[in-house]
Amino acid sequence: MINLGNFSSIFVANWKLNGNIEFIDKYYQNLLPNSENCTIICSPHIFLKSLKSNKVNLFAGAQDVSEYNEGAYTGEISASMVAEYSRYVLVGHSERRMFFNESNDILIKKIMLAYKYNLIPIFCFGENLENREKGDYLSIIKQQIEKVIFPVFSSSVFLNQTLIVAYEPVWAIGTGKHASPEQISEVHDYARNLLIDNIGNIKGSVPILYGGSCNSQNAKSILEQKNVNGLLIGGASLDVDHFTKIIQIAHGLS
Ligand code: PGA
Repeated sequence: MINLGNFSSIFVANWKLNGNIEFIDKYYQNLLPNSENCTIICSPHIFLKSLKSNKVNLFAGAQDVSEYNEGAYTGEISASMVAEYSRYVLVGHSERRMFFNESNDILIKKIMLAYKYNLIPIFCFGENLENREKGDYLSIIKQQIEKVIFPVFSSSVFLNQTLIVAYEPVWAIGTGKHASPEQISEVHDYARNLLIDNIGNIKGSVPILYGGSCNSQNAKSILEQKNVNGLLIGGASLDVDHFTKIIQIAHGLS
């Protein structure tokens, strides 16, 4: 049983470095989440406060959080600060790993701090094109999960915390070339088994999202895969009508 609460799917919009107050006003006027799904909007930190809404099952999420709790770290935003305005936080997005050199050790610290302040981390993992072409992508994925998630959950303090993970092949992010349903299915089944085998039955219930060039044309075939519990959407989420359409597609499937 996947731990989605009462939701049938989770949809995460990742606005990345986009948005302003006017954009948010219009977006929230036109966004139509629905009661069966959980919709999470991940905006730049400065806009988190503006994402407050009375709409049903609509939540705010941050795109990142500091590995530090407090202190002399100019420009950083801590988990306790993020938790004032949001419930969810992306951790380990490939753009953070690539452009900001985030290592596994940093990601462990971020997840632990997120839990300390009752944030729900959405942990991203996925291979790059070279790994995919060489055929060693499953071992890369194994390492990414093993080196971050397992150490966190090896501590009994965190054993009952909620976790969401997202498979995001780097070669599919922002390229217009999504992974095929078969490719997605293979990795999601693999990740599901890895979590069950290594952190017990509770973690067999972790929702696994897919991200990478999702849009309203491919959402249905991706969401139909057994171990796909939702989508993480970048580019297509910037157009509120397009994003709403994707959510409605899932509504039709459930
Ligand atoms: P994309 O981005 O949908 O534009 O490929 C996915 C993501 O946010 O990682």
